[in-house]
Amino acid sequence: MDYCQIIDLVHSTKEIIMDESESLKVTEKGPSDFVTQIDFNVQDYIIKELKLINPLIQVMAEEKDNQKIDFSKPVWILDPIDGTTNLVHGYHHSAVSLAMHDGEKIAFGVVYNPYTDETFHAEAGKGCYLNNERMQVSKVGALKDSLVMVGTASYYKELADEIFTEIFRVYRRCGDIRRTGSAALDLAYVACGRVEGYFERNLKPWDIAAGMLLVKEAGGIVSGYSGEEMTLDTINDIVSDNGEIHEEFINAINVR
Ligand code: IPD
Ligand code: CA
Ligand code: CA
Repeated sequence: MDYCQIIDLVHSTKEIIMDESESLKVTEKGPSDFVTQIDFNVQDYIIKELKLINPLIQVMAEEKDNQKIDFSKPVWILDPIDGTTNLVHGYHHSAVSLAMHDGEKIAFGVVYNPYTDETFHAEAGKGCYLNNERMQVSKVGALKDSLVMVGTASYYKELADEIFTEIFRVYRRCGDIRRTGSAALDLAYVACGRVEGYFERNLKPWDIAAGMLLVKEAGGIVSGYSGEEMTLDTINDIVSDNGEIHEEFINAINVR
């Protein structure tokens, strides 16, 4: 697979995303859960191009029906816009996230932020790159010195008490927290050492597939809330960090 071609394809969505008139066409899918015409335009465009490259490879994508996806065979995993709420508000912090799951593992991932022109990509076993420069997770060794990204799982307000209790526990033990509104970019930021950790509940495969590989290839860790390995064919609670703070971080999330 020529992944350079895939990175070029993801870059070419910039024009579609910058068409702000389309971001005003918004539909509410559920409580606080929006989709804009840009999400659909990016998704339609990328799927069309991926099918031209190889019509046999399945595509799982947020704004389509994914019932027939078979994870034992190669599959593209696409979030056309990760950070739709940010897009709706003109907050300019959203990304396109695309990963290849080859039937066994995530083989490739790219996260592209069109507002900063930052492209984070990784291929299994070949390292993590930001605009083609090799990236590593941060070396900070203690939670108290760490900057931590949190997610609020905002489409599940019924979990707010538990989630904010977990966030409170981590906040008391870490340096400070951030909430950005794009899980894919949160993972990319862990990978390139801008923050030490990130955690959030109830994420879908397209939110995290590419970002998980970025973090692993940059030397960090991705796991479930108890440190367990994650599989991509389901909804996941995710903890990701530089490896140095992992035990302390997991304890802070879980210990009451
Ligand atoms: C969302 C973002 C957000 C996270 C949500 C995701 P979307 O994705 O990644 O940061 O908190 O859980 O669903 O809806 O903008 O693609
Ligand atoms: Ca998403
Ligand atoms: Ca999305």
